[in-house]
Amino acid sequence: MIDLDRIVIKNAEIITMNVAEEILHGDLLIEDSRIVSVGPEIKPDPADQVIDGTGRTVIPGFIQTHIHLCQTLFRGKADDLELMDWLRTRIWPLEASHDQESIYLSALLGIGELISGGSTTIVDMETVHYTNEAFQAIAESGIRALSGKVMMDKGEDVPLGLQEQTESSIRESVDLLEKWNGYDHNRIRYAFAPRFVISCTESLLTQVRDLADHYNVFVHTHASENRGEIAIVEQDTGMRNIVYLDHIGLAGKRLILAHCVWLSEEEKEIIKKRGVHVSHCPGSNLKLASGIAQVPQMIDMGINLGLGADGAPCNNNLDMFNEMRLAALIHKPVHGPTAMNARQIFRMATIDGARAVGMDQDIGSLEAGKKADLAILNLNGFHCNPSFGTDPISRIVYSAIRSDVESTIIDGRVVMENRQMKTINQTF
Ligand code: GUN
Ligand code: FE
Repeated sequence: MIDLDRIVIKNAEIITMNVAEEILHGDLLIEDSRIVSVGPEIKPDPADQVIDGTGRTVIPGFIQTHIHLCQTLFRGKADDLELMDWLRTRIWPLEASHDQESIYLSALLGIGELISGGSTTIVDMETVHYTNEAFQAIAESGIRALSGKVMMDKGEDVPLGLQEQTESSIRESVDLLEKWNGYDHNRIRYAFAPRFVISCTESLLTQVRDLADHYNVFVHTHASENRGEIAIVEQDTGMRNIVYLDHIGLAGKRLILAHCVWLSEEEKEIIKKRGVHVSHCPGSNLKLASGIAQVPQMIDMGINLGLGADGAPCNNNLDMFNEMRLAALIHKPVHGPTAMNARQIFRMATIDGARAVGMDQDIGSLEAGKKADLAILNLNGFHCNPSFGTDPISRIVYSAIRSDVESTIIDGRVVMENRQMKTINQTF
């Protein structure tokens, strides 16, 4: 008989985010990495790990579709700068100063913050060097991730330490891909990470396109975040940013574009037609004065959007509760109170984020057969006002805070329990 690791969560409120978006009350059974049942009463075996869910709310783990773990140590460095000045004077010199140990520690610190805030999957962009150390931290922590070395073989004002040649950028990326893609039953996946069009030669981008097709992996880049950025792209290429990416042949279902604040109608049509995914980063877009992305219009068009905190320096935290709240609030003055309602926002943070990483069959909702990636919340604090019977999804989006997350489970492993982090590195 095969010995299964079983976890039973008893007597909890469960926000499933399945097709019916059911909210149930009952038990949840996990066997090894997957959910076996959601709702029916489970009689635990003596060997089972039992978590009392009484008065607790179980949700699908958050999926952050744009993060830079390598920037966690630079928290607070956005000050009052806009994107291009901030990159040139702060972020690029700081990234150039990283060594192996600082990359590893930056990743661990970021992952700890993410897991303790209920995030279970990230799409991460590293810096030019030492990405192997970031993968090591991802492997040891248990978080689910798509990550990749940043690629930047072009550009002015880039410190010597970040400058790279096209060929070595490609070679190092492929070496990392071959080492890490598929690790731990596909918990870790490689995603090519050309920084943004400004930083990349056409030769690099076309090679990335071919390699991503060859290995069937994602490409993750910044696009149309800032007006200064898109002006440089137009100057360099003679095209709008997204038109250029489409011209290269990169626009497709395995492309995640962070930000997308400044898009023409034609660019939105390309994103829609090609099935490209957008990572909305409201906190970063506000802090760097980038602008307000046209999210309600993109949703109306049927474009898929996830949510991301971006790097810690952009808005000083990696907190999905913060991003959800901002995403919900910023459109209300112009588009009305329900344009971005709490359910829509919660979908972006969970099941739509799962679609963005091509894993909606596996994560993003709590259903039998899916991976056990979830967070257990205690929404009984005064700030959540539980006694007034508000809808739990509204309560999570508008009132909950990171410390309301009590436990986090990823791939059927308890990575945080009662706010105590657990390292899983011994299991490998
Ligand atoms: N565009 C190019 N690089 C970056 C980065 O590191 N952060 C953000 N927010 N935008 C970028
Ligand atoms: Fe970013």
